[in-house]
Amino acid sequence: MRVFSIDDGSFRLDGAEFRVLSGALHYFRVHPEQWGHRLAMLRAMGLNTVETYVPWNLHEPSPGEFRRLEELGAFLDAAAAEGLLAIVRPGPYICAEWDNGGLPAWLTGRPRTSDPEYLAHVDRYLDQVLPPVTERQITRGGNVIMVQVENEYGSYGTDHAYLRHLADGLVARGVEVPLFTSDGAADHYLTGGTIPGVLATVNFGSEPEQAFAALRAHRPDDPLFCMEFWCGWFDHWGQQHVTRDPRDAADTLERILAAGASVNIYMAHGGSNPGTRAGANRAGDQPDGAWRPTVTSYDYDAPIDERGAPTEKFWLFREVLSRYTEDLPDVPETPPLLPPATLHPAGTVPLRQAMDVLARPEVVSPVPPTFEELGLEHGLVLYRTTVPGPREPHPLTLREVRDRAHVYVDGRLAAVVERDADDRPQPVAGGFATVEVLVESMGRTNYGPLLGERKGLLGGVLHRLQYLHGYAVRALPLEDVSGLTFEPGTAGEPPAFFLTTLEVAEPADTFLALPGWGKGYVWINGVLLGRYWDRGPQRTLYVPAPLLRAGTNEIVHLELDRAGSALELRETPDLGT
Ligand code: GLA
Repeated sequence: MRVFSIDDGSFRLDGAEFRVLSGALHYFRVHPEQWGHRLAMLRAMGLNTVETYVPWNLHEPSPGEFRRLEELGAFLDAAAAEGLLAIVRPGPYICAEWDNGGLPAWLTGRPRTSDPEYLAHVDRYLDQVLPPVTERQITRGGNVIMVQVENEYGSYGTDHAYLRHLADGLVARGVEVPLFTSDGAADHYLTGGTIPGVLATVNFGSEPEQAFAALRAHRPDDPLFCMEFWCGWFDHWGQQHVTRDPRDAADTLERILAAGASVNIYMAHGGSNPGTRAGANRAGDQPDGAWRPTVTSYDYDAPIDERGAPTEKFWLFREVLSRYTEDLPDVPETPPLLPPATLHPAGTVPLRQAMDVLARPEVVSPVPPTFEELGLEHGLVLYRTTVPGPREPHPLTLREVRDRAHVYVDGRLAAVVERDADDRPQPVAGGFATVEVLVESMGRTNYGPLLGERKGLLGGVLHRLQYLHGYAVRALPLEDVSGLTFEPGTAGEPPAFFLTTLEVAEPADTFLALPGWGKGYVWINGVLLGRYWDRGPQRTLYVPAPLLRAGTNEIVHLELDRAGSALELRETPDLGT
């Protein structure tokens, strides 16, 4: 029977001193058929533990409706099969560059506090997500050794009664392993995010000596643990691709271990932000800094890259970790790739026509309802209104677009308006004009005080200074586009869906590029892969082999801005510069 404990200021496994050498790998960012390979890569890098978050919004899409609850347990079993212990961080908030930091959009910004209404939602979620794993993996003898309370709560608030409620709730639900909190390594984070009797850990990317000294000042007796060693970073659309020098990262890892600490490498393997799950950040240290949506890749410049291949960082980390572990398995082979190819779309259907099949029934409202009011987590919403007449032409102002809008006046594209853009075009409309605004949502902010933001046409549309009232609204979820019928030909005018077929002898990984196309979404055999955008930095989308099949495959993409001519399959990723 395996017992992980904290005794005498050190971690112990079955009584013997033990150093946790962990790596983050999120089950929801990697196709389940690839878990085994990625977990084996973690072991081969020299790790003995895997860490995962649990994203609430993936598992409870609407209040009281739960899905995919079996995945966490299956992942923990897969980890055990590869000889790995596990750390679980069930939230309710996870940050993680994940839409809204994992909080369901339907919570619409309820604060992370001991507010009873919020806690009732949290408790209902934990009641669903924990029991299947506490029974098997989190009780003594299972492979889960630690469970986290909230996530970097000190970056957000100071409600210790909330943290206490969560910690007590974990114990009450049968979690017997040590609990912990994790926070930035500074006084204000640690005094906001820790509670007595629960292990405190710190998160950082460099200067481990300083970070551990900050932790020590608050917790002289806790064993040292860096719960997130940021060995890489993530990217935002329209910004530069971020990388971390492998030698510098390996040096920091070495210094963490030399301090006698345990570590969780964030990320050991990042994977991808599937579908519309990527979050967003605020620039700088200001609460309302510019909103920056996160790209589809979550490669993270991690030691194991997005397709599971070892990078230079992997080999350097393996060398460091080899000094702290006795058994270092061979490195698994990297799965093969499809040969490069150029593919031409064979069919198209205009978005408006597609909406007749895919959109929810029309809703009528005096003011434009938000996505959340429409019960739409992400996707597109078409708002239609009319300008009364007769009257003079005047400019139209979209007060707050979340996040990007195509504005049509009498059926003609008049402007594309983007949230936070410096210049916001004001198309002109006269009396009797039909004004249509097609709004696309992107990631919800996942860090800081602005969690829970709403999407849509906030503040409505003004004609000069007058509100236009009366909207016919159609919501288009993007999960399922299987009902579309494509017409042969490729001369579709965006916005339109395009169909491209791909013949495959044997499924393998590939990188999909859409050179010359503008902005949109891609589905592989009906599965929404994610967003693409010519703004970069990401220019190829990783397509995991399990999404493909031997024979004919269907690639559907929705192009919103500009049609290119071909799609390309490539053998190397292009995450930008
Ligand atoms: C924080 C969060 C993580 C992640 C990292 C940055 O430490 O706890 O979830 O967002 O930042 O990648």
